[in-house]
Amino acid sequence: MNRVELRDVAAVLLDMDGTLVDSDAAVERAWSIWAGEAGVGLDAVLAIAHGVPAHQTVARLLPHLDAAAVAASAGRQLALQYEDLSDVVAAPGAHLLIDVLARLGLPWAVVTSADRRLAGVRLRAAGIDAPLVVTSQDVTAGKPDPEGFALAARRLGVDPARCLVVEDAAPGVAAGRAAGALTAGLREVAGDLRVPDLAHLAQLLDRSRQREWWRDAVGYQVYLPSFQDSDGDGWGDLRGIARRLDHLVELGVDLVWLTPFTVSPMRDHGYDVADYLRVDPRFGGDGALDELLREAHARGLRVIGDLVVNHTSDQHPWFVAARSSRSDPHRDYYLWRDPAPGGGPPNNWQSHFGGPAWALDQRTGQYYLHLFCPEQPDLNWRNPAVADQVDAILEHWLARGLDGFRVDTAAYLVKHPDLPDNPLLDEGEELAMSGVAHEWRRQHHLYDIHQPDVHAIHERWRRVADRHGAFLVGEVYVLDPPALAAYVDGERLHSSFWFGLVESDWDPHRIHDMLLAAAQASPRLSWVQGNHDRPRAASRYGGGDLGRRRSLGLLALMSFVPGTVWLYQGEELGLENGVVPADRAADPLAAAEPGQSRDAARTPMPWQPGPGLGFTAGRPWLPDGERAPGDTAAVQRARSDSHLAAVRRLLAARRELLATGAVGSGPAVPAREDGVARYRRGQVEVLVNLGDRPAARLELPAPAVFDSDDPSVSPASPRAGAVRLAPQQALILRHGRS
Ligand code: NOJ
Repeated sequence: MNRVELRDVAAVLLDMDGTLVDSDAAVERAWSIWAGEAGVGLDAVLAIAHGVPAHQTVARLLPHLDAAAVAASAGRQLALQYEDLSDVVAAPGAHLLIDVLARLGLPWAVVTSADRRLAGVRLRAAGIDAPLVVTSQDVTAGKPDPEGFALAARRLGVDPARCLVVEDAAPGVAAGRAAGALTAGLREVAGDLRVPDLAHLAQLLDRSRQREWWRDAVGYQVYLPSFQDSDGDGWGDLRGIARRLDHLVELGVDLVWLTPFTVSPMRDHGYDVADYLRVDPRFGGDGALDELLREAHARGLRVIGDLVVNHTSDQHPWFVAARSSRSDPHRDYYLWRDPAPGGGPPNNWQSHFGGPAWALDQRTGQYYLHLFCPEQPDLNWRNPAVADQVDAILEHWLARGLDGFRVDTAAYLVKHPDLPDNPLLDEGEELAMSGVAHEWRRQHHLYDIHQPDVHAIHERWRRVADRHGAFLVGEVYVLDPPALAAYVDGERLHSSFWFGLVESDWDPHRIHDMLLAAAQASPRLSWVQGNHDRPRAASRYGGGDLGRRRSLGLLALMSFVPGTVWLYQGEELGLENGVVPADRAADPLAAAEPGQSRDAARTPMPWQPGPGLGFTAGRPWLPDGERAPGDTAAVQRARSDSHLAAVRRLLAARRELLATGAVGSGPAVPAREDGVARYRRGQVEVLVNLGDRPAARLELPAPAVFDSDDPSVSPASPRAGAVRLAPQQALILRHGRS
């Protein structure tokens, strides 16, 4: 049966113990006393008691008892539970979920295998006022029988198939499924969805109702070759990612961008596509993608691919055909020109990776254009057949379940029809851009990129994407915010990365001003500090602890302006550049300009100390980057003062503030005082000391719900009073409703 999507859910049915109410310890204590009295081992009890009515457990453990004796024994067990409420509280996120359900106007009920009295006392102890409670006394059988859920749905006046059942135990999930509902399992329990806690579920429900689900989302870039290897070949793959999804969920990620996974000779590690419609076997093949999408979607994660259509691989069948003869029907898929009079390339355009952007095809005697490697010929976007082919590629993957695309070199594609020379910049006036060859930075790129007709292509893709509810985020290297905003205006790309922070050295006031100016230019931008093409943020911002603290401060600053905030893999660990000896260089750019090599940002993800770093059981394709144990996810996960812990706290606070409507939809209103970057958006105020000296003492105008330097501060445990912000310390305050 096809279950409804989260966005179509019309009511929510919540189990009580372990789901809505944190009562596991109390339940276990009661069973332990009962087991002692009944002469049964506690382990035998706990193996079956969870999520089913007490009398069922008693009957199974003591099969010789008659019905009356079972009822009496279960009654005794319940009596023990009525009395012991010492540590019964609402489960994490329960109140947030209830608030969100109210805001969304979604009816809800508690469906529990406890009896009426127990449900009453437990919910009261947890401070939860449930509009409807269905207990074991309302049904003839308990879970895993579906009757309780069906009854609750009936009383709410909602078709059970449009209910979401939330459970922390497998029998409850089975009962929910049997009732025809969509199911969500908590923590280790697999339902149609799997969520770590109720706060997460609240956000998923909230987001599922928004057409623009990507707005204010947290994105995460997976650089596929280096994230997780699952088969020991030293090369990351899709099954590896599936194994690490819980890391992303715990981090608070909503949206994952996978760098290219389609068939490629890997000259540029996937950015040279030889077959747009198949997954490269080195990444696990087509089946691995299906598995990954299933696992990711079950956790409420969206997954986008990487659309690389400025160029193909020279091994793509289109190019193989195109170069076979001047009259081949595919010839016009690419840009061919005769040599300049007197010989040589047709114009002065340069490749990003060094040397002229033209390569001579000996057989046909013409040059073809390649703005990247010679093995990456540029497509001719003035040929309508190219646009048709790319529409079909988009349709293919969106129908397969991808949630959208990051668009590679989105502002390139079309070139000036006459292919004129680009003007040269004066020596010393080079473009401030890393990850490209010097000769490329010496030109004013008037004719090879950023042609105005590129917008029509984006508009065309947008129509395809919108039919699928999919998201398109562009790689547009335009640092001037108003010029960048033109790429996301109207019905163009949904969003675009803004690389101002990536290209900026540490210049705190400029960073703050630039960020807020960009946010004012468009509420739809995507905020990044790094990616696989640039040195890592912690290194750029000064390295070591200082670089990490600055990067965390910036993340706090980025997190509450309108738009999507992104982490590049490893940024959550505060990773600096990895060390790659020259003889292991893998980036094509390294050959032309070793100083610009992108390898340092691409070394394997350090999951745990030891050989292979938990990334691979084999020899990694790039060296491990010389990571210390403290850089690894495993070590940081165990420490409450780690970079990872701080990023998780920050994103959790952000999630809660968004889900409760505290952030609002308005703009960020800037302020600055004494070196402290400061802005307000809705009820939220962000303060970051971007300077390197302690700030002046400040009376907080509202309680802090996040403090980068104090793990004990959270929305559930806010802190008021006065502070003197340490260098790079970040606070998020929550004002009352205004
Ligand atoms: C941008 C990608 O991020 C980069 O890695 C690649 O080399 C170029 N586009 C060419 O596709």
